[in-house]
Amino acid sequence: MPRSKIAGIGMYVPEKVVTNNELKQYMDTDDQWIQERTGIQERHYAHRTEETTTTMAVEAASIAIKRAGISAADIDFIVFATLSPDYYFPGCGVLLQRAMKMKEIGALDVRNQCSGFLYALSVADQFIKTGMYKNILVVGSEKHSFGLDFTTRGRNISVIFGDGAGAVVLQATENEQSGILSTHLHSDGESAEILAMYNPGTHANHWAEKNYAAFDEAEIGQMFMSHTMIDQAQNFPFMDGQSVFKKAVVKFPEVIMEALYKNGYNPSDINLLIPHQANLRISQFVQQKLKLRDDQVYNNIQHYGNTTAASVPIALCEAWQKGMIKEGDLVCLAAFGSGFTWASALLKW
Ligand code: COA
Repeated sequence: MPRSKIAGIGMYVPEKVVTNNELKQYMDTDDQWIQERTGIQERHYAHRTEETTTTMAVEAASIAIKRAGISAADIDFIVFATLSPDYYFPGCGVLLQRAMKMKEIGALDVRNQCSGFLYALSVADQFIKTGMYKNILVVGSEKHSFGLDFTTRGRNISVIFGDGAGAVVLQATENEQSGILSTHLHSDGESAEILAMYNPGTHANHWAEKNYAAFDEAEIGQMFMSHTMIDQAQNFPFMDGQSVFKKAVVKFPEVIMEALYKNGYNPSDINLLIPHQANLRISQFVQQKLKLRDDQVYNNIQHYGNTTAASVPIALCEAWQKGMIKEGDLVCLAAFGSGFTWASALLKW
């Protein structure tokens, strides 16, 4: 049975850097509050009109494809993870296929927020193991800066998120010594509303107390994206940060240990852990819990914020570019986020 390995990796972050102090012009916040609670110093924001989730993905994907030594025409399938798509539909997968002038290959969109890249990687891994595809482009890309509440009302969320993209070419290999050893996916929908963006959506509307049974279809249609919704700021993400924190510090270590046990390893065997960059405090907690040394964990949230589905491939790419990952290294990727969903992947580089 073929295995899958990362044959090429790329990342892209927009040029514009926004420091914590610069956010003060929009909301009542301060650098010390943000750094103490999250570790974040700055983040990148995409160009308002010229950059989208898809254009950033194209940049990251082009680098990954080049580093894999193949061309866009060799890609058999796309798996695209994002929570900030260019359009409500169609998803970014087809936009990437078009932008990169690829063949009429399949393009799948994954909606698993912060765990999105690991879900995408796992899906791609299964397609390669069955022999169906040889080169799969797996992407995580986010343009958060266009959908955040830049007022004091939204400060607990808006200061955390940043824009960027990461991509890998997952390739079939017969080499039993390298590649993805296993992936592990989990969810618990009980907490779906704790970290969520409710609108626009087709749920029983949260944003006004009305008897919707009394409305006809035309009126309901007007409510999908209404003035009321915007006036009440119901079109922004919601997060109960403390509940997210409490669950994350349990599920991160759990899913990392699951991957290690499955393959007969201990935390001390990890050469590099790349946790999803949710919050530096969460990563530090996980490090302590697993008794990992500083050189076994890679964090870069200080400079990018939380880039959701892009955070794991960006951190993996940056660590690799810095020479922190060598052939034969045991690398663990782990994520936790909205849903709740959480996931891990263990690989030999
Ligand atoms: N700047 C300054 N003050 C802020 C602020 C900001 N950006 N955001 C919130 N505050 C204020 C609150 O209004 C509150 O003030 P009050 O005590 O006067 O009411 C105070 O700080 C504490 O707010 P709280 O939400 O309880 O802070 P916290 O200590 O829980 O930290 C998070 C907030 C978001 C940093 C923290 O909960 C967290 O990191 N959670 C995990 C989030 C995460 O990882 N999300 C991504 C998941 S993938």
